[in-house]
Parts: sequence; C-alpha cells; structure tokens
Amino acid sequence: MAIRDIVLSTDDFLRKKSKPVKKFDEKLWGLLDDMHETLNHTKGSGLSAVQIGSLKRVFIIDINGANLEFINPEIVKKSGKQYKEEGCLSVKQAYACVERAEYVEIKAFDRYGYPFSFSSHDWTAVCLQHEYDHLEGVLYIDKIYKGKKRDTIVGE
Ligand code: NI
Repeated sequence: MAIRDIVLSTDDFLRKKSKPVKKFDEKLWGLLDDMHETLNHTKGSGLSAVQIGSLKRVFIIDINGANLEFINPEIVKKSGKQYKEEGCLSVKQAYACVERAEYVEIKAFDRYGYPFSFSSHDWTAVCLQHEYDHLEGVLYIDKIYKGKKRDTIVGE
C-alpha cells in the first residue's frame, strides 16, 4: 500500500474517460488499497482512480468513516435536487455549490466482481455523483450552480 500523489485539475489527464474494469485481480486490489490509503491520508470524502493516475472505472467514498468501493458503477436512478458546497482533492482550496440529484441509485461491482446495488440521499448522494463524474472526465467546477450567493469561494 502507498499514499499516491493526487492528479490536479490543471492536468488534462483528469479529462479522460475511465475504462471498465475487466479483471478483478490483485492488480485491482492493489489500486483500491492505494486509494484507501490516499483518501484516509487526505481526509477527503471520496476518491476516483483517475485522481491517482489510473483510468479504471473505480471510486471509493467515505461513509461514516468506512470507505465503500464501487467498480464499474452505473447510476440507474436519480430524483430530486439539492445544492451543496463541494470541493475536490484535485481542485485546491476551492469550494462551490453544485446542482445534484437528491437521491441516486447505483449498480456496481465489489472488488471480487460481485454485483450490488446502493442507494442514498443527501451528502452521500452528492459524493456518489461527484465521483461518478470523475470517471467521465467531468469536474464539479464544470457545473457550478450560479443561483447561489456563495458561488465560488477560493482560499478557505
Ligand atoms: Ni473530486
């Protein structure tokens, strides 16, 4: 396991679309283990593989102190709207309100290749959508919500 460097938004690598995982093997587990160590070190809410330099469709999110792994995730249902202030480990010292669905359902695979479904509201739903966007090469700064007073806050 190793703490990996975070790819920053100034790097075009983050704009690449990640590719589906085909082998649920030691190489994938090593990547996941590095992601856990990196996320725990940075104290972020979530991390996608692309942020540590791997174009695999993999992300993890922190739910109440435990990291949940999502491999080849697909958002199968969305409903409602919410606006919360988001940040990103790849975008230094900037936060902004982004429009997200209030509820999402995701289908994904665990590290052994077993499918599962996961649904969530509120902040966890924000994290899921934020990390899913990373797999598509999209950053939250692309969809900053203009209707809020606190639009972009830099330097907090
Ligand atoms: Ni991010």
